Amino acid sequence: MTHKIAVLPGDGIGTEIVAEAVKVLNVLELPLEMETAPVGGAAYEVAGHPLPESTLKLAQDSDAILFGAVGDWKYDTLERRLRPEQAILGLRKALGLFANFRPAICYEQLVGASSLKPELIAGLDILIIRELTGDIYFGQPRGRRVATDGHFPGAEEAFDTMRYSRPEIERIAHVAFQAARKRSKKVTSVDKANVLETFQFWKDVVTEVHQQYPDVELEHMYVDNAAMQLVKAPKKFDVLFTGNMFGDILSDEAAMLTGSIGMLPSASLNANGQGLYEPSHGSAPDIAGKGVANPLATILSAAMMLRFSLNQPEAADRIESAVRAVLAAGLRTPDIWSEGTTRVGTREMGDAVVAAITGKG
Ligand code: NAI
Ligand code: MG
Repeated sequence: MTHKIAVLPGDGIGTEIVAEAVKVLNVLELPLEMETAPVGGAAYEVAGHPLPESTLKLAQDSDAILFGAVGDWKYDTLERRLRPEQAILGLRKALGLFANFRPAICYEQLVGASSLKPELIAGLDILIIRELTGDIYFGQPRGRRVATDGHFPGAEEAFDTMRYSRPEIERIAHVAFQAARKRSKKVTSVDKANVLETFQFWKDVVTEVHQQYPDVELEHMYVDNAAMQLVKAPKKFDVLFTGNMFGDILSDEAAMLTGSIGMLPSASLNANGQGLYEPSHGSAPDIAGKGVANPLATILSAAMMLRFSLNQPEAADRIESAVRAVLAAGLRTPDIWSEGTTRVGTREMGDAVVAAITGKG
């Protein structure tokens, strides 16, 4: 059976890093049919919209989506609906990609690249599961108005709405407990139940769902404490599970534990197991076009795609082993470079992963 993959490179470094991931996928000799379409700034340039109908349709009709990054500074002055970032939000919404997986793994060879003490992060391997389609990012109503109450009646104000429904919390809680079953069987659910009704409800529903997973240990933690524990003792976490906004912030924090955001892959899945795979970083306009971006986060995202959506775990293992081999050989893009290692560019790094897979390295 041929797997259909939508390849959406985007703009900024997106095109450079996705090219390397595609190269890696091609040498695996799997039955993959890859079709490329513009998204984000690249789509705005050719179609006047960051997520054209044809790109969305390709994504919907595919088994999986390999996504680069979107969002160059030059689009910052466009009205919000035309900005590149609307493409990724639109895809998440249209495909119902509610479960975001972000593994934060500190590779042995990169322990020195982290800003934390080596003993705190050596061997770090945690999985952040972030709910992706609810919370204050999508809650209605939102807007601007003149206040009729509060501390300054009559003043201009803005407001958003934090909300989660029971089914939204239940489905992501099942995802977290099931993921924990395949790991060390511990889930830390991060909330702010002491202050927010939305997250007291989150905590209650997660506790209920947990009844179905007696073999998994559940711990609740307030988000402010979680932010602190992540830099104090990150290895105490295994599956860190939370809502959309807290997950956004904590996953960037966790990214820094591993050395570089250029190393962090992600998967966003819907209820049918269809997924969008992308690096955790953005389009890095500061280094775009220079051939220095680290392609490993995107290459590792392609490995997640093979494992989660295409049922090709052996191929995923081959990619991940190749990445470890290349790091062990001392190759480093500038973001992870340190004294005594070999500085390489985006393309050389991709070539090295290919060589490690084909045994021609
Ligand atoms: P960013 O992740 O693009 O860059 C942050 C810093 O990390 C920069 O110094 C960049 O050079 C570096 N960096 C990122 N990826 C790298 C890689 N693969 N190799 C080496 N260095 C790397 O975040 P920033 O600067 O906040 O946002 C830039 C643009 O990207 C914005 O327009 C933002 O909206 C967009 N963005 C898009 C995302 C997506 O496509 N899913 C996610 C996050 C931001
Ligand atoms: Mg973020």
